[in-house]
Amino acid sequence: LRGEQVIVVSNREPYIHTHKDDKVVVSRPASGLVTAIEPVMRACSGTWIAHGSGDADRETVDRHDHVQVPPDDPSYTLRRIWLSEDEEQGYYYGFANEGMWPLCHLAHTRPVFRLSDWEFYRKVNQRFADAVVAEARTEDPVVLIQDYHFALLPAMLREKLPNATIITFWHIPWPNPESFGVCPWHQEILRGMLGSSILGFHTRFHCRNFLESVDRFMEARIRLEESTITFDGELTQVKNYPISIHWPDAEEAASWPAIDTCRSALRKRLGVPEDHLVAVGVDRFDYTKGIIERFNAVDRLISKYPELRGRFTFAQFAAPTRSALDEYQLFVHQAVALAERINKRHGRDGWQPIQLIAENQNAEEVNSHYRGADACVVTSLHDGMNLVAKEFVAARDDLRGALVLSEFTGAARELEAALIVNPYDVEVTADAIYKALTMSREEQAARMRSLRAIVSEDNIYRWAANMLLDAARMRRTERISA
Ligand code: G6P
Repeated sequence: LRGEQVIVVSNREPYIHTHKDDKVVVSRPASGLVTAIEPVMRACSGTWIAHGSGDADRETVDRHDHVQVPPDDPSYTLRRIWLSEDEEQGYYYGFANEGMWPLCHLAHTRPVFRLSDWEFYRKVNQRFADAVVAEARTEDPVVLIQDYHFALLPAMLREKLPNATIITFWHIPWPNPESFGVCPWHQEILRGMLGSSILGFHTRFHCRNFLESVDRFMEARIRLEESTITFDGELTQVKNYPISIHWPDAEEAASWPAIDTCRSALRKRLGVPEDHLVAVGVDRFDYTKGIIERFNAVDRLISKYPELRGRFTFAQFAAPTRSALDEYQLFVHQAVALAERINKRHGRDGWQPIQLIAENQNAEEVNSHYRGADACVVTSLHDGMNLVAKEFVAARDDLRGALVLSEFTGAARELEAALIVNPYDVEVTADAIYKALTMSREEQAARMRSLRAIVSEDNIYRWAANMLLDAARMRRTERISA
């Protein structure tokens, strides 16, 4: 694909400019998608089209709404799209996050479908499609469409740029046909997605669910062995591409603060003694992440293993997210109340088992928390991949620390050397956290070595390369047969 134009489309932008006091400051959002795509964009210096969501974003762009990023080392173009309040409300909060998000995650939160949200979703997808066409320098660019905000965009683009190679990557799970069928516009969504040349999910299981959904609802030819769908004379390849993270090289890892420094910093931040045991959770404050189940497991852990009283703290870092939605406000409220109840039950002499820190942490802080912790706990009820698990592994070049990981994450398919749990099973999760805290150094190292071998190998460049290689192969075949 050397010399070809690569355009990425996502809702969330990688850099957000906001006003703070009299200054404009730039921040990076808490988003697994952004963490993953950014290194790819830096490597291929393409154009990234995204919603300009910061209140100072407009001040940083040129006449064509472009800005070069990252700010400290410009290496690709960010093209910002401006959405009206109604558009943001209907397309992003409404259809994407009250409809599609709960539709695709088995977290037992009912999706809400409103006709007006759907209309805005369609309209905004069209606006992004127009922007891709405006940015395209050739009639056959490679377009990488990201996530559930853009189910309709592939077909809209296919209509305007019939020769484009359209790769759609769905970062969240895909449900089974029964679950998916509750969406009143299920056929339109499938039709939209089938405009893609390649449609990627994290796991084979999600690919299978998608093929079955198409089989159930569309008049399409499906080849299960090849995992292809032909609809309206167009071929879509459905394939799993497990996403990953940028694996730090030796020089980068050498620039990190030492493990001892990170251990002390974390304990100081929590106000606990140096020899205290600490497990961390790092998530967006989202109901799919199993934070309530995790707290219940900590509750059980303390009751079952009283020797941990006064010696152990569970630190939950939870980044505020989608706070304009009732479902999220309610969830935060419940999680805070539960942590308080558990702390009241077990706390004594100033010690509390759970510390809930509902603030954004930047990448350096998060890395330092990972390095300073004895264990990292990921208990998502359902998660496309979960990059926290992989980031924790990358941070532990000392081969210490243990990972507790929900079996309902895409990551559990790869990270078999983690302590895999069903987060709905309080007993099993509590025991796994106990095991993580009391595991011998030898076992920690053996497990960590195995985890690190996998993540370093299947890193984010491999993810992108696999998709782009498949795209290149497809373009060659099309050119030969044309
Ligand atoms: C998940 C989604 C991403 C999204 C991120 C943060 O990881 O798959 O598309 O960017 O959550 O959510 P937000 O709504 O803040 O972009």
